[in-house]
Amino acid sequence: MVVGKPLFTEEEIQAKVRELAGMISSDYEGREPLVVGLLKGAFMFFSDLVRHIRVPLRIDFITASSYAKADTTGEVKIHCDMREDIENVDVLLVEDIVDTGITLNYLRERLLARAPRSLKICALLDKRERRIVDVPIDYRGFEIPNEFVVGYGLDYDNKYRNLPYIAIFKRSD
Ligand code: IMP
Repeated sequence: MVVGKPLFTEEEIQAKVRELAGMISSDYEGREPLVVGLLKGAFMFFSDLVRHIRVPLRIDFITASSYAKADTTGEVKIHCDMREDIENVDVLLVEDIVDTGITLNYLRERLLARAPRSLKICALLDKRERRIVDVPIDYRGFEIPNEFVVGYGLDYDNKYRNLPYIAIFKRSD
């Protein structure tokens, strides 16, 4: 397996992050959202995004997984849940990539059951072709083709997360 040339360069990603943070800052004017990062994949996107959001905010994380190597198991496991109480709170869930939508749909239902004031979703990448469950994405970075990608937090077998760009991961033959 090899990492191909960048699908999105570091500069393109950073420009998109600033654009998303700008929209979020305007929409949340006068409010103090709780921004929740989905680990591990969203760690880099999350930290870049929050540093450009201009409203006061709090942060929390959920560690979940639904993937075994390069294929989905269709089953979501919560390894570490968030610590903040979200009742009557404006929650913004930050995800690296929406693929089948199973993970996000599961987490969304779980969070909505805790009665937040609002719940919005921000995802850097949208692999729309692969969608099985329809989930609303309020802030979308890039739509991508049906390819497995790594870098900028996204992994294959917990590797390549540190790449500052996003690339397609392919068999070498
Ligand atoms: P979903 O539940 O199928 O939408 O999958 C969402 C999760 O699968 C993401 O949070 C990623 O961790 C992982 N995932 C989906 N597509 C990719 C990919 O192309 N590269 C790396 N991880 C992916």
